[in-house]
Amino acid sequence: MEMIQTRNELIETARLRWITFSSSAESIDEGQEVIYGLKQRQKTLPCRYFYDDRGSELFEQICDLPEYYPTRTEQTILETYALEIAKSTGSCELVELGSGSSRKTRLLLEAYSQLNHQLHYCPIDVSAGILYSTAITLLHQYPTLRLCGLAGTYEQALAQLPAAELENRMLIFLGSTLGNLNEAECNQFLTLIQQALQPGEFFLLGVDLQKPVEIIEAAYNDAQGVTAEFNLNLLRHLNQRFQSNFDLDQFAHFAFYNSIEHQIEMHLKSLQTQTVNLQALNFQVTLQAGETIQTELSRKFHLPTLVTVLSDHALAPLQIWTDPQGWFGLLLCQRQCTTGECP
Ligand code: TRP
Repeated sequence: MEMIQTRNELIETARLRWITFSSSAESIDEGQEVIYGLKQRQKTLPCRYFYDDRGSELFEQICDLPEYYPTRTEQTILETYALEIAKSTGSCELVELGSGSSRKTRLLLEAYSQLNHQLHYCPIDVSAGILYSTAITLLHQYPTLRLCGLAGTYEQALAQLPAAELENRMLIFLGSTLGNLNEAECNQFLTLIQQALQPGEFFLLGVDLQKPVEIIEAAYNDAQGVTAEFNLNLLRHLNQRFQSNFDLDQFAHFAFYNSIEHQIEMHLKSLQTQTVNLQALNFQVTLQAGETIQTELSRKFHLPTLVTVLSDHALAPLQIWTDPQGWFGLLLCQRQCTTGECP
């Protein structure tokens, strides 16, 4: 069975459903976001543009870097507690935001299959290439798995999630991607999560925690320069998408920890005074020598504060796990009834 919709594309086979939300390269909104960021006093660019297929590949490499502790640490926590998570939730559909290669999610799939629960997995990613190849690999590895790939942004996917086929659902958001949102964006995002979940459903969240600055800074300034390449790839992606002419040799990766805000701030520093033309947007931007474009924030969380923020969005942490050093946190939350929602 196959059908094409005007904007979003939907493909169905026995175990695979595939929905592509229209990539709005031509959409005015998306371009406006880029222009808006480049017009600010501290210029910024949306971090979503990191993740074209090349960017996703580089990010996978970052996850394996010796300095980049978050992936390893979160993986260890999941290895230890995946079964406990599966037992707590019982049978449920897994919906993962920003799934990438889904390597950590495999631990959960293993746990649910060990408990003989049906496997339903909906990975969501803006990078359709990695999403598709991961989907095919997983379908081969798990012969009973039913998979629904959603190629698009979180906002698109959460707003149009297909109806759950199992009695329960868990949204999964790992890798401390929540930390890549500023406080206001974080609140908006958690509101989307709250709206996407029915009372009683689950939210599994992985977050990087506050720790000595040297450890954090090293994680974003690796010796091999993969993070630098990842950061610069954003410009290459923009060049492709908006026919712009950012010269990658004229920018340098620059990342530091802001101890007051408890966040890594990542920038691209202009090595000379230069004017860049974004042809498709009919927009030009001039950068001074030494001026930076902020490309990413990575907030490091304080667990008790985060618990309060989650509770404000009707998400009650049932269980919180960390590694022995307390570097990373994994929270299993359950969507609560809000006033008037439940009898
Ligand atoms: N969520 C990841 C983090 O904040 C994203 C990330 C890791 C990242 N390394 C990066 C983003 C380098 C941009 C550049 O740790």
